[in-house]
Amino acid sequence: MEHITDHLRLLGDENRLRILHALAQEPLTVAELQEVLNLSQSSVSSHLGKLKRSGYLHDLAEGSAHRYRLRDDLATEAAACWQAVRPLSLEHAAVREDRLRLEALRSQRGSSWVERVAGHLHREYAPGRTWEALGHSFLAALDLGDCVDIGAGDGAMIELLLGSCTSLTCVDPSPAMVSAGNQRIQEHGWAGASYCTALAEDLPLKSKHYDSVLFLQSLQYMQNPQKALKQALRILKPGGLLLCLTLEAHRFSDSDRYGHRHQGFTCQQLRSWTSGCQFQRCFALAAENRPPRFTPLLLTARKDS
Ligand SMILES: C[S@@+](CC[C@H](N)C(=O)[O-])C[C@H]1O[C@@H](n2cnc3c(N)ncnc32)[C@H](O)[C@@H]1O
Repeated sequence: MEHITDHLRLLGDENRLRILHALAQEPLTVAELQEVLNLSQSSVSSHLGKLKRSGYLHDLAEGSAHRYRLRDDLATEAAACWQAVRPLSLEHAAVREDRLRLEALRSQRGSSWVERVAGHLHREYAPGRTWEALGHSFLAALDLGDCVDIGAGDGAMIELLLGSCTSLTCVDPSPAMVSAGNQRIQEHGWAGASYCTALAEDLPLKSKHYDSVLFLQSLQYMQNPQKALKQALRILKPGGLLLCLTLEAHRFSDSDRYGHRHQGFTCQQLRSWTSGCQFQRCFALAAENRPPRFTPLLLTARKDS
């Protein structure tokens, strides 16, 4: 679906809105939706078909039935329209009545949420299980020691990283970024963090001195990414961690607007530029929801000891 008006027309139907509100509470089958909405099977199925084709719903086979759920990876326009319409219709009388009927259905079924989501929990909302919370949890368990963040920008990641580091050296060649980053460090009184104005390809940092080197969406900005990775390996201690989060090779011209010099990389390139390292892992992560759907690429490796 291309246009915002198409989404608004879709959500302009009261019954479709009621379906979305019901599914926002939990995944339901056609039979359950019929009961909650008090509508015929053909009407429910026809609305479900339209919502599914427009990218609002997933369905999962469950025995002979299908269980429908609201996608949590809605495309930008669909998400914006639903977020705008949802609060406006949440207390609508029909939506309130549906909520009461859903409550009644739940107590009739007698099964707990845990039993209902078994087998598809990975696709379900579970309170508190956010990517941000998971990221913080894993970082808290990580020891980055003396760490260098290359292409650190204005230090947006310092707060996140500092708890896992003994010291954090932020490298960036942009005077504007370095000045904003230094200001951030000063304002927060972060004693462990400092800036170094330099190019990754020519690091004025000691060899074999650091426990970890990170590139967080910065490699695609560098004139000579191969040289930058070589320098990173030079400053790492034997056994030190190299982590490079970048983009998978793509053909989207949108990257020009962000100042990228490279349209992403392949794992083959990253692996060959870090050959000689141990425990090399490289894989693509899920593509972004928003167009043009860039795909992040992650390389981790340990410098040979
Ligand atoms: C998108 S920003 C990433 C900022 C930061 N890593 C983050 O995740 O918030 C990319 C940064 O790479 C820096 N950069 C560009 N060329 C570089 C180079 N040759 N060496 C080191 N950093 C570079 C830019 O100045 C910019 O601050």
